[in-house]
Amino acid sequence: MLGNFSYCNPTRLYFGENALDNLGVELKKYGANILLAYGGGSIKASGLYDEIIKILNANNKNIIELPGVMANPTTEKLYEGCKLARENNIALILAVGGGSVCDYSKAVSVSAYCEGDPWEKYFLKMEDVDNKIIPVGCVLTMVGTGSEMNGGSVITNHEQKLKIGHVFGDNVFPKFSILNPVYTFTVPQYQMVAGFFDIMSHILEQYFSGEDDNTSDYIAEGLMKSLIHSSRIAVKEPKNYEARSNIMWTATWALNTLIAKAKSTDWEVHMIGQAVGAYTNATHGMTLSAVSLAYYKHIMKYGLKKFARFARNVWDVKADNKSDEEIALEGLKEFEKWMRDIGVVLSLKELGVTPDMFDGIVSATFLLEGGYKKLTPDEVKEILKASM
Ligand code: NZQ
Ligand code: ZN
Repeated sequence: MLGNFSYCNPTRLYFGENALDNLGVELKKYGANILLAYGGGSIKASGLYDEIIKILNANNKNIIELPGVMANPTTEKLYEGCKLARENNIALILAVGGGSVCDYSKAVSVSAYCEGDPWEKYFLKMEDVDNKIIPVGCVLTMVGTGSEMNGGSVITNHEQKLKIGHVFGDNVFPKFSILNPVYTFTVPQYQMVAGFFDIMSHILEQYFSGEDDNTSDYIAEGLMKSLIHSSRIAVKEPKNYEARSNIMWTATWALNTLIAKAKSTDWEVHMIGQAVGAYTNATHGMTLSAVSLAYYKHIMKYGLKKFARFARNVWDVKADNKSDEEIALEGLKEFEKWMRDIGVVLSLKELGVTPDMFDGIVSATFLLEGGYKKLTPDEVKEILKASM
C-alpha cells in the first residue's frame, strides 16, 4: 500500500547534444551578475568553458569566476564562495561540472546570506533555510550524483573529519540543468565507473527498504537494468553515445526524489561511505563500492524476500526449486560480478583506509533507521573490517 506523499520536481532539464542552445533562454530570466563556479580545469581542457563564456557575453552578463571547486568540496571553499556571492550581488550561480560543483553551488546559494555559520546551521544542526536563496543553474559534465535535479549538497569539514549532506527542499533544487552526454566523454575511467556505482547505490538504497509492493520498486528495477546494460557497454566504449546518454538519464532519475516515494529508504551505505570520505578524501562512488558487498551480505537476512526479488528481477536468477536465501545469494554474486566487470574498488585498503581509522570512521557514521536493520557501531566496524 502506498502511503501519503507529495511530489514536485521544479528543475527544468534540457537533454541532448544541443542542450546548451537553451542556456541563453534561461539566462534571460536573471539579473546581470553571474557567479560561474567550476572545478579544477577539465572544462577548460574540453573547450566547454569557452562556449559558456561566449553565451554569457552574448547575453550581456557580468561574469564573476569561482574556479577551483574541488571534488568533495570543503567548508573553507564554501566560505570563499559566500563572500564572493555577497560582495557581487549575484543573480544566478552557474555551476559547470560534476556533482561537487553542483552541490557546492547549492551550498553557496543558501549560505551566502545566512546569519551565523552555514556549516553549523545546515550540516551539523540540519536547520531549514530562512534567508535569501540565490538561484542555481547547472551544466553537468560528470554523471552519478543526481545533484542536477535534487536538493542534495554534501560538504566536507576536514578539521572536524566529517562529510555531511543536507537534502534541501524544492526551493534549492537547480532552476535548470543542461545535460549533454557528450560532455561526459572526457571523464577519466576511474571517475566514470565511480559515478556508475554511485547511481547503482542510490537506487539500491531506496529499493532495499520496506516490504510493500510499490511502484517505486518496479521503476527502480528498470533503472538498474538499464544501468547494468549500458555500463557494460560504456566501460568498453566510453564514447558510445547511446550508452552514455542512457546512463546520464538513469542517474538523474535515480536520485531526483521519484523512486523514494512511499519508501522509508536506507542510505546506510552512503553514511559509511561519507565517513570513509571524511578520513580519506577518496572518490565518492568508490567509498560506496568498497563497503557495499559486506553491507548487503550483512543485512540480507533481514530483508530476504526483497533480496530474492532483486536476484530474480534485476539479475534474472532462475528461481527453480531454490530457497529465498539461495536465490538472494546468487543475486549478490551477480552484483559482485558486475562490479568486477566495470572495475570499481572492492577494498577499503585501496582507498587508504587503515585499521587505526576504524573507530573514527565508526563514530563519524550516522546510524539510520530506514533500512532492514539499524546498525550498531560494532556492526559498522565489522563491515569496515570485512571490506578491507
Ligand atoms: O574539477 P575538474 O577539473 O572539473 O575535474 C573533475 C573532478 O576531478 C572531473 N570531471 C568532471 N567532469 C569531467 C571531469 N574530468 C574530465 N571531463 C569531464 N567532463 O571528475 C572529478 C570528480 O568530479 P566530482 O564532481 O567530484 O564527481 P561527482 O559528480 O561524483 O560528485 C561527487 C560529490 O557529490 C556528492 C559526493 O559526496 C561528492 O562530494 N554527492 C552529492 C549528492 C547529491 N547532491 O544528491 C548525492 C551523492 O550521493 C553524493 O554524495
Ligand atoms: Zn552518492
